[in-house]
Amino acid sequence: MSALLQISDLHVSYGQIEALKGVSLEVAKGEVVAILGSNGAGKTTLMRALSGLLKAGAGSIIYRGEELVGQRADLIVRKGIAQSPEGRRVFGTLTVEENLGLGAYTRPPSEVSGSRAEVYKMFPRLEERRLQMAGTLSGGEQQMLAIGRALMAKPTLLLLDEPSLGLAPLIVKGIFTALREIANTGVTVLLVEQNARMALKLADRGYVLEVGRMVHEDSAANLLASPEVQEAYLGKTDAH
Ligand SMILES: Nc1ncnc2c1ncn2[C@@H]1O[C@H](COP(=O)(O)OP(=O)(O)OP(=O)(O)O)[C@@H](O)[C@H]1O
Ligand SMILES: [Mg+2]
Repeated sequence: MSALLQISDLHVSYGQIEALKGVSLEVAKGEVVAILGSNGAGKTTLMRALSGLLKAGAGSIIYRGEELVGQRADLIVRKGIAQSPEGRRVFGTLTVEENLGLGAYTRPPSEVSGSRAEVYKMFPRLEERRLQMAGTLSGGEQQMLAIGRALMAKPTLLLLDEPSLGLAPLIVKGIFTALREIANTGVTVLLVEQNARMALKLADRGYVLEVGRMVHEDSAANLLASPEVQEAYLGKTDAH
């Protein structure tokens, strides 16, 4: 596997608390990789360290052969890594269109309207609401906007932190359909999800993170079939 991203023995701490205790993971170009894990496992910490928003204490993050640890977040975006953050974090007092524009801050101005048109094609709801304040969008629409804003950076690697959080099942289905379309365009996707079943159906491979350590790594199909994963993350037990 030629890795687009290779994380090795990554440690990240908040003061005295070590949230990532030596995490390693690889993502090949074009793959969809899911990271499963309970609340507090360190999933968001990993995403934020990758984006340069948190400083790694030790370890390395090699992306296209280059070390990202110690690099500034805006430079990491320029290298092709964009994140749709947990909790969506759209700018509530800006319009949909302005939020999308902010996602494109690293792009040449001449390319922005073309990318915006692609986002609107994927999420027609956003186009209908393009002049609406983002803070007044529904949760599902805000999630579309957060993903759309990340796409405006034209990422090679898209990081998605809990895109289904707090959304109704039908909306979640729509979001995952969009993620499939995004992956089909060749964008590499690293996806953090509590909705393990949906994530593993979308993904090629998956990892399970438990209190700062990777405890499983396998094909998505094997993880879906694994009794331990079923019991812990898919709401099934093998007792019945
Ligand atoms: N800013 C912070 N200061 C101190 N500790 C933090 C901070 N952010 C996260 N932590 C701690 O780091 C650990 C990992 O948190 P993280 O947010 O990465 O988990 P997560 O897997 O994303 O959880 P969730 O599924 O609830 O989003 C937790 O124990 C959390 O309390
Ligand atoms: Mg999180």
